[in-house]
Amino acid sequence: MLLEINDLHVSYGKIKAIKGISLQVGAGEIVTLVGANGAGKTTLLKTISGILAPVSGTINYDGKPLTDIKPFERVIAGVCQAPEGRGIFPGMTVLENLEMGKFSRPDAKAENEQDLEMVYELFPRLKERISQMGGTLSGGEQQMLAIGRALMSRPRLLLLDEPSMGLAPMFIAQIFEIIKEIKKQGVTILLVEQNAAKALAVADRAYVLETGNISMEGTGAQLLNDPAVRAAYLGHGA
Ligand SMILES: Nc1ncnc2c1ncn2[C@@H]1O[C@H](COP(=O)(O)OP(=O)(O)O)[C@@H](O)[C@H]1O
Ligand SMILES: [Mg+2]
Repeated sequence: MLLEINDLHVSYGKIKAIKGISLQVGAGEIVTLVGANGAGKTTLLKTISGILAPVSGTINYDGKPLTDIKPFERVIAGVCQAPEGRGIFPGMTVLENLEMGKFSRPDAKAENEQDLEMVYELFPRLKERISQMGGTLSGGEQQMLAIGRALMSRPRLLLLDEPSMGLAPMFIAQIFEIIKEIKKQGVTILLVEQNAAKALAVADRAYVLETGNISMEGTGAQLLNDPAVRAAYLGHGA
């Protein structure tokens, strides 16, 4: 397993947000975590990327404890998060935003052009807008930029926090196509989503997170067809 989480607990002061989660992500997989607002999805991703420290439990990456190393060292090790709400730099151009994705690997200047080409191939819209300010992009374009920036660090494990949130249907479909394409390039993906139908459809395996606990797990298809999951997360006509 590339990522192995065991009995993880994470709190904000007295508030217990993650209450003993265990999950695995195998190399090359897309693993999806679905859950309602407030279930703890963002908290889990922030703990993996090192923004939050767990109260207890272990997070092993490539067989070694991830919690022993600092957030920037995790990026160098290949763990990279495209944050919820996108977190791009509004006053920087598209190109500058993408180049920021390389901050963890200053040695990698030589690979810059190659990596930019890879990002432009996935997101032709970004190429058309290289000198546009990040803050003037549409929501869907900002999401593309956030994912593109994460890819610039050449991640092995890409953490995506609700990449479809707030996007128009056309962009939602595109984002999920791109997620499949990124997987094809050999990147392992942990995808967190409220859009359960689309997220389970691309998932090799999936977990349902309910207020800090995992309530169900299975293949993407199993959960997609599970009556309880359908009732709780797929809504009408999904
Ligand atoms: N900075 C914070 N301080 C206190 N509580 C927080 C903070 N961030 C999140 N929480 C709480 O932790 C729980 C999980 O939140 P979060 O991980 O953001 O859920 P999700 O991403 O699934 O919507 C929620 O009850 C939320 O109110
Ligand atoms: Mg969240």
